[in-house]
Amino acid sequence: MTRPILTALGVVLALVSFSPSFAAQDNVHLSIDMSKPGAKIDRNIFGQFAENLGQGLYGGIWVGPDSPIPNTRGIRNDVVAALKELKVPNVRWPGGCFADQYHWRKGIGPRSQRPATVNSAWGDVIDTNAFGTDEFMDFVQQIGSTPYVSINLGSGTPQEAAEWLEYMTAAAPTALAKERAANGHPEPYKIGFLGLGNESWDCGGAMTPDYYVSLMKVYSRFVLNMNPAQRDKERMLKIAVGPGTPDTEWTEAVMKAWKKHSWAWDINGVSLHWYTVPNGWPPSTQSEKFGLEDYAKSLKSTLFMDEFLRKQEPVMDKYDPEKKVTLSVDEWGIWHAPLKGSNPAFLVQQNSLRDAILAALNLNIFARHADRVHMANIAQMINVLQAMILTGGKKMVLTPTYHVFDLYVPFQDSTFVPVALEGGGSYTQTTVTLPRLDAIAAKSADGKLLVAITNLDAETPATIEARITGMLARSATAKTLTAPTVDAVNTFDAPNAVLPKPIAVKVHNSDLSLTVEPRSVTVISVEQ
Ligand code: AHR
Repeated sequence: MTRPILTALGVVLALVSFSPSFAAQDNVHLSIDMSKPGAKIDRNIFGQFAENLGQGLYGGIWVGPDSPIPNTRGIRNDVVAALKELKVPNVRWPGGCFADQYHWRKGIGPRSQRPATVNSAWGDVIDTNAFGTDEFMDFVQQIGSTPYVSINLGSGTPQEAAEWLEYMTAAAPTALAKERAANGHPEPYKIGFLGLGNESWDCGGAMTPDYYVSLMKVYSRFVLNMNPAQRDKERMLKIAVGPGTPDTEWTEAVMKAWKKHSWAWDINGVSLHWYTVPNGWPPSTQSEKFGLEDYAKSLKSTLFMDEFLRKQEPVMDKYDPEKKVTLSVDEWGIWHAPLKGSNPAFLVQQNSLRDAILAALNLNIFARHADRVHMANIAQMINVLQAMILTGGKKMVLTPTYHVFDLYVPFQDSTFVPVALEGGGSYTQTTVTLPRLDAIAAKSADGKLLVAITNLDAETPATIEARITGMLARSATAKTLTAPTVDAVNTFDAPNAVLPKPIAVKVHNSDLSLTVEPRSVTVISVEQ
């Protein structure tokens, strides 16, 4: 996982203009035009990633049916209940780097007979294979989500992957479908997305772009979804490996091949992986007990996501002007130094208000790129990297990042609406200068106007006046996520230190006014 150090290079958010004539305490003006709807903000940009890594699955999701921790068929009830609230659209599994070492047959059938293997991707720990395909599908079904299965291109074969798909999706009484039925699942599963490898330029096999493209075509041709219910509608979308650095060589190779694809193979998406690593690799920022400089550096660094997408999009447009192929940011988030005392291979980190603000900024970027970005998966769901949930034995805590995802649920499948921001100004912390505010707006599936405002300024509130055109606003409610310090975290002992709370919004003649607190994420819902 060696990556070049990425620095944020003067990233300015596209739809936001700044006027230096406004001092920090001056009013900020938002103009929201409901009559100019943009692209759909696909609910799949709120996807998550659950890899067989550390306690991401074992302990985080899977405790086994005999555990004293309340569970349904081995899957934690507390975690399921929390994730249901987020309406998680899709879950990517089993990796990550792990996916290219995973052999699915070891994870099916009676658990007592499954072989123990070594998870050589993550710490060489023993893997009981107790959480296999059927357990994953059960989990996804319990939280009401859609499976995004990454197949093994690195150390597997097309035949192994094809048989996995047959096991999961065949309705006809083939031997593999009968085996699935014998394992308790006569109905074929529906697979929403299929990942054709992972980071094939690095942990997935250190391939060249051309080698990957040749291999990927073979997998795309032969790894088939056999579920009749997915033949015409709800089709499984195939996601090819895409870039992990801002250069466009990989995207160019995949898209050039796609442009000439025949009936024999196809892809629907190209993945993109980019982590926020403010000081470069190896990750060295602290996930707890840090100061304002680290805060500002992290946000500056994360805004590079916008530039990364802008570099890739012209290549995709060149080969696919109709935007049939999605950019799927299926790994993103902040990657800190391992938490003191934890196994470094388990990628354990705390999750603070800073990380929540950073999540909101990324979601806003994805929304602005909604015409090309139809999918994204935060890394990761539980106990690993920028997690939604942390568990410790029977305890569970929801992180500040969880609460941002919760605030953003109404944006799922909404329609982007342009926002012009005037008077935002900038926020300078030591050597780092950031835009002070960031905002997006959308029309929700049920006709409401949604506005999300992030105040990046850690010290000063902002009074905001929003003018809405194209809708008569009658009432509005808002919730905000903030805390006394940017490094505030939720712990098992103090789980509600960072929690959303309602704030007042005034509505007058279709204008809104409100004050957003420093270091906060606010979502406003406006009704006509
Ligand atoms: O999310 C952790 C790892 O980061 C994934 O396994 C890999 O794809 C990426 O390098």
